[in-house]
Amino acid sequence: MTIPVAILGATGYTGAELIRLIEHHPHFEVAHLGAHSQAGKLASAVLPGCAGRVGEMTLAAADAVLDAAIELVFTALPHGAAANSVAQALDAGKKVVDLSADFRHQDADTYKAAYGLDHPHKELFASAVYGLCEHARAAVADTRLVANPGCYPTSTLLPLIPLLKAGVLADVPIIVDAKSGSSGAGRSAKTDLLYCELNESVKAYGLPRHRHAWEMEEWAAGFSGQAIQVRFVPHILPMNRGMLTTLHLSGRDTASWHALLSDAYRDESFVRVLPAGQLPSTAGVSGSNRCDIGVATLSDSEAVMVSCIDNLLKGASGQAIQNANLMFGLDETSGLSAHALWP
Ligand SMILES: NC(=O)c1ccc[n+]([C@@H]2O[C@H](COP(=O)([O-])OP(=O)(O)OC[C@H]3O[C@@H](n4cnc5c(N)ncnc54)[C@H](OP(=O)(O)O)[C@@H]3O)[C@@H](O)[C@H]2O)c1
Repeated sequence: MTIPVAILGATGYTGAELIRLIEHHPHFEVAHLGAHSQAGKLASAVLPGCAGRVGEMTLAAADAVLDAAIELVFTALPHGAAANSVAQALDAGKKVVDLSADFRHQDADTYKAAYGLDHPHKELFASAVYGLCEHARAAVADTRLVANPGCYPTSTLLPLIPLLKAGVLADVPIIVDAKSGSSGAGRSAKTDLLYCELNESVKAYGLPRHRHAWEMEEWAAGFSGQAIQVRFVPHILPMNRGMLTTLHLSGRDTASWHALLSDAYRDESFVRVLPAGQLPSTAGVSGSNRCDIGVATLSDSEAVMVSCIDNLLKGASGQAIQNANLMFGLDETSGLSAHALWP
């Protein structure tokens, strides 16, 4: 079975990662590459890693009509720009995995609070499924529109949800301290992402409330039924990819939390709870679709959990492929079996 696929936003970091993954996928085939400012050029002229058949494809304009044969569309576009492309693709009968934030919220007010935009397609909220695969399999398999989770929310929600479901966390704000490689900010030129601004430096940003805080709170409650508050501080690091998130937690029975997490993810291909006493690193997951989680018990009532993902894989394009596999009834791990690139 070959499923023709379109990637809109193919010239960005997540779009390029989708191309790389799909080139090794047993069932998906790149059939259309959409771009914006780079439309009309060859893919190989814009993407240094892109060669062979896909490298020879011409980048289509963002609003180009998609061939009838295309069954699946990945929208790897900036938030705000994605919603119209998603609506058009759905109207044309395609399935869609949207990597932007445009369908991650369940109501337009929350979307506006987080992104400052009026949503042009509120009517699609009801049919969008928030695709945190490990907690949403059945719904993902049954929808035509998946909202692929954000990178920081993925690395926060995966360790948090089992604890919330178990009801062991205290009712206090959760401190989420997270670090990301600079590819998390996308490929477009920005002064604060220049080499000299980032190199040999680490900085916090997005305060007082980064837009992913709304997503974390909404879906922590969505998956567990428990309302939470997060105090989220993201940082940008001078590395290309990778994300390390530290959760400072208090509650009860902390000595049982490692076993609780291990049980929750025992059968998962892409979530690995490390043996007690071990903590993850970004190098351990770079280039893979895995989330590694370490648990450190500080006292009877306090613990720290550290999770690592590759922001471009489990935080974006890898999880998008995982969702697409579920939508087409394929093995969830298809095209995603690569281990981390290490060293
Ligand atoms: N980077 C990450 O780690 C990450 C993780 C999770 C989710 N996401 C989300 O995924 C989406 C893509 O992120 P990215 O990092 O790949 O972004 P990016 O590197 O900045 O790439 C953006 C892509 O969208 C195209 N584009 C820009 N403005 C457009 C417009 N007005 N209309 C249509 N196309 C437009 C660009 O085309 P041209 O190059 O031709 O101009 C490019 O292909 C974003 O919504 C982002 O928030 C990113």
